[in-house]
Amino acid sequence: MAAVPDSELLFSRSYIPAAVQARVGSDIEIRPLAQSDNARGHFDLLTVLTEAPQVSAERYVERFQSMKACKDTYFTVAFIHKPTDKLVAVGTVFIERKFLRGTGIVGHIEDIAVSKSMQGRKLGLHLINTLEEIARSCGCYKVILDCSKDNIPFYEKCGFKHKEYEMAMYL
Ligand code: ACO
Repeated sequence: MAAVPDSELLFSRSYIPAAVQARVGSDIEIRPLAQSDNARGHFDLLTVLTEAPQVSAERYVERFQSMKACKDTYFTVAFIHKPTDKLVAVGTVFIERKFLRGTGIVGHIEDIAVSKSMQGRKLGLHLINTLEEIARSCGCYKVILDCSKDNIPFYEKCGFKHKEYEMAMYL
């Protein structure tokens, strides 16, 4: 597996906690999403979560670059299975800057997906730990997320507590 150059990454590798990398197993590399990850099965992986139709290579790069242009805002983390060079887990923490709480910062955890063949290996837990550490290093006072009732036990095991209710309006 060839190393991805730093210039292709969404954010600096320095945000990835070494302690989590040490816990995932030697067959997995944790790194920021790369501009070339479309070719490493990013969309196949997202289908465990919801509909994720493949987009063109140009559109993928365009979306990637628009996220990268928002400095210190989008942190999408990828777990790469080194023997196959494929993404096997992915998730994002989106950093929201507020006026309230003395210009506080909140992390929103979004789009967590672990490939079916890798579920149950604690990759989901390590992914959430990674996003939590990134949010902490960005100065967030909390991280929040929406999930289905079925996933509540998973997030409780990751240290979350049930609060509030989600509202949605599809446009
Ligand atoms: N119900 C109950 N417990 C669960 C569940 C569940 N659905 N999923 C995991 N757990 C438990 C595990 O048994 C384990 O418990 P243990 O420590 O006592 O052994 C602990 O949670 C950690 O499990 P992991 O092995 O880390 O979980 P995994 O790697 O399989 O990832 C995930 C869990 C992310 C839910 C995965 O199954 C998945 O990708 N599912 C499909 C997509 C999805 O639902 N994503 C989350 C959407 S919500 C969002 O994106 C904010």
